[in-house]
Amino acid sequence: MRPDGSDALRPRPGTPHFSVAPVTCQTADIMKGLILAGGAGTRLRPITHTGAKQLVPIANKPIVFYGIEAMADAGITEVGLVVGENRDEFVNAIGDGWQFGVNVTYIPQDAPLGLAHCVLIAHEFLGDDDFVMYLGDNMLQQDLAGFVRKFDLERSAPLAFGEDRPPAAAQILLAQVDDPRQFGVAEVDEYGEVLRLIEKPADPPSDLALVGIYIFDKSIHDAVRAITPSARGELEITDAIQWLLDHDYRVMHEVLQGWWIDTGKKDPLLECNRVVLETLQPRNDGKVDGTSRVDGRVVIEEGAELVNSTVRGPAIIGRNTRIVDTYVGPFTSIAADCTIIDAEIEHSVVLERCRIEGVHRLQDSLLGRDTEVIRSDRRPKASRLMLGDHSRVEVE
Ligand code: DAU
Repeated sequence: MRPDGSDALRPRPGTPHFSVAPVTCQTADIMKGLILAGGAGTRLRPITHTGAKQLVPIANKPIVFYGIEAMADAGITEVGLVVGENRDEFVNAIGDGWQFGVNVTYIPQDAPLGLAHCVLIAHEFLGDDDFVMYLGDNMLQQDLAGFVRKFDLERSAPLAFGEDRPPAAAQILLAQVDDPRQFGVAEVDEYGEVLRLIEKPADPPSDLALVGIYIFDKSIHDAVRAITPSARGELEITDAIQWLLDHDYRVMHEVLQGWWIDTGKKDPLLECNRVVLETLQPRNDGKVDGTSRVDGRVVIEEGAELVNSTVRGPAIIGRNTRIVDTYVGPFTSIAADCTIIDAEIEHSVVLERCRIEGVHRLQDSLLGRDTEVIRSDRRPKASRLMLGDHSRVEVE
């Protein structure tokens, strides 16, 4: 039941997602969404020792929210969220999905056994419906609605006379990358047909990486049941799509428009924060005193306070954060309830309740919740650290 007593889904404020026609398919009544937010997050340790990587904020909004919003904007209202040990953290942040205008069903995964394993355990939720699968740590500029519409159109298009091609069973999104060895890679022929897919190949057949967005029809359930674990012990979705190709199913593809970032490591995460901050509408819902300066695209959230400080955008200052005698440079997101005094910080992401004092200067940094970075005048002069497992510090 919603707070207003109704059962209706609420449109997200400011987004016209119900103006997008709901997507329907010839062979299924609705298109569902499946977001994968389990996994171990080892490449973002120590942040992921205490929280899920998909809930790390980009421009002060958790990464997975962008995926849910993309689903809602594409007219998808039934979203399954595969979650691992951080289930409660997701439930606290997302609830039943009402704030996004979708219904969220949580699908627990006991261990990160692979992307195809997620499809296996989500079968009851998915039924025989078509679905968009979205990796919860991926962010992309291209809107999902157009990608979904393309699949829908091709599935419902009448065949030309004499044509007997099967309808597409899947659609993948590809992007040209510098180092394809880190991704699933596609080989596509000169007519644009997908010939072969291979997961993290040592010798890639092309530079076209699989972006973490896929559309499947019900044939994928046979595929994920048929494949066996890869050398890294996971049921690979790449192998499941290859199984479809091997069994004469058609796999359509699209080459990505705009940027795409797999945020699973610190530097891509900072890069993603940079590109998203550049799209924010500036606003000031906080307090800026007469000796402070705000330049460019800056969002100051409610209750935030700037005292004798400069913030040069693009940047965002979170709720109830206090910035005193400080310079905040471009591409910086400071989350809620932080205190920053006599410091310089740039091109960084700072999570909730951090304290930074007397530090000149921090850059290219990601600080987890409740972290303190403080200059000390204690003798002997030294750096005194208390770092969690897998932390990394670069000192001058
Ligand atoms: O980022 C695109 C790449 O994503 C593709 O090019 C690859 O073909 C695909 O296998 C995948 O590779 P990664 O190794 O980067 O996937 P990762 O383990 O980071 O998992 C992606 C998301 O899925 C992440 O949000 C965690 C979630 N996940 C992962 C596994 C293995 C689950 O929910 N359950 C799992 O068992």
